Amino acid sequence: MILAGGFGTRLRPLSCTRPKTLFPIVNKPLLQWIFERLSKNNIQEAILAVNGLTAFHIKNQRIPKRGLRIKYSIDPPKTPLGTGGPIKNAEKLIGHSEPFLVLNGDIFAELSYTEILEAHKKSEALATIALCEVEDPTRFGVAELGTNCRVKNFIEKPAKGTAPTNLINAGIYVLSPEIFSYIPKGKHVSMEREIFPKLVKEGKLYGHVFQGLWMDIGKPEEYMQANKILLNTLAKTPKTKNRSKFTLKNPIAIDKGVKIEANSVIGPYAILGKNVAIGKNVQIKNSVILPDAKIGADSSINGALIGEGAIIGKKVRINKGCIIGDQAKIRDNISLANGTTVCPAKEVSENILKSKIIC
Ligand code: GTP
Repeated sequence: MILAGGFGTRLRPLSCTRPKTLFPIVNKPLLQWIFERLSKNNIQEAILAVNGLTAFHIKNQRIPKRGLRIKYSIDPPKTPLGTGGPIKNAEKLIGHSEPFLVLNGDIFAELSYTEILEAHKKSEALATIALCEVEDPTRFGVAELGTNCRVKNFIEKPAKGTAPTNLINAGIYVLSPEIFSYIPKGKHVSMEREIFPKLVKEGKLYGHVFQGLWMDIGKPEEYMQANKILLNTLAKTPKTKNRSKFTLKNPIAIDKGVKIEANSVIGPYAILGKNVAIGKNVQIKNSVILPDAKIGADSSINGALIGEGAIIGKKVRINKGCIIGDQAKIRDNISLANGTTVCPAKEVSENILKSKIIC
């Protein structure tokens, strides 16, 4: 089961127009990365726990299914079920025959699903959570392990200096069907705050530590960082390519249909989505440009996130931490202060001197 029906409030305004799980990481929707990993681990069926709107967006995206059977379990209208309620809601679809995997749809993790399923089956766990080590665990659920990887303490978002370990809940679990009796029906339930602490008390929660890459894209800076990290791992030897017309500085990713005009410098760390059009003498680095955006001549973009179909005029300056919503328009000669956010379809026709949200 893939949990993908949250509102992604921390990723607004880009999450107003697409669910988090469809945010592209190096030009591929996160959900596509997840399908590929499921398929590699011989998983045959995925149930997407979503709301009606998210289901619509996902179906529209036509992600290659990689041999997976895809089913949808829809939250009841106007009743978000949290991270636990959707599991109960899908009880019939999941069935009671064997343990099943639950993934947060906003996580990129290089974890072997086969290994965590095996670890779960070998122990007496009712739930096994994937754990990974991070430097600062205070924003996450932190686990302390006892013998045989049984979780003896699980604290959601511990205050600074109080976390017993640096092992955090990676947002990936294996659950046995008995879990259904722990989750009330039709209610908002948090696995992390309500169910896991109960299982710890009963000695039924186990941990599975893994070493691979783990990234949460919940916040804009995390989303940008995830793109950067993956660009690094995917990039071949970094080098500068001088084309006759423009310059590409690795690492970069350029999708199909992109047009770049003379004297533009793209990269390092630039990701250009499908059909992006770049005018003459443009500079783009440390930025993600979503499909169909147009960047006018002599503009520079550094450290920003540009939404799908956004139109950036000529001689525009967009710098660190700026987020431009889908279809927004920035007029010629405009400069945006660092950290400016522009809502979808909004037009900006004056300089923005102090960071703010333009809606
Ligand atoms: P924020 O509003 O930014 O906190 O995001 P969120 O609530 O979408 O995400 P959170 O990190 O809290 O949730 C973890 C995962 O559970 C994400 O993949 C969400 O899409 C999913 N999720 C959260 N709430 C719900 C819900 O009510 N229903 C369903 N089906 N999934 C949910």
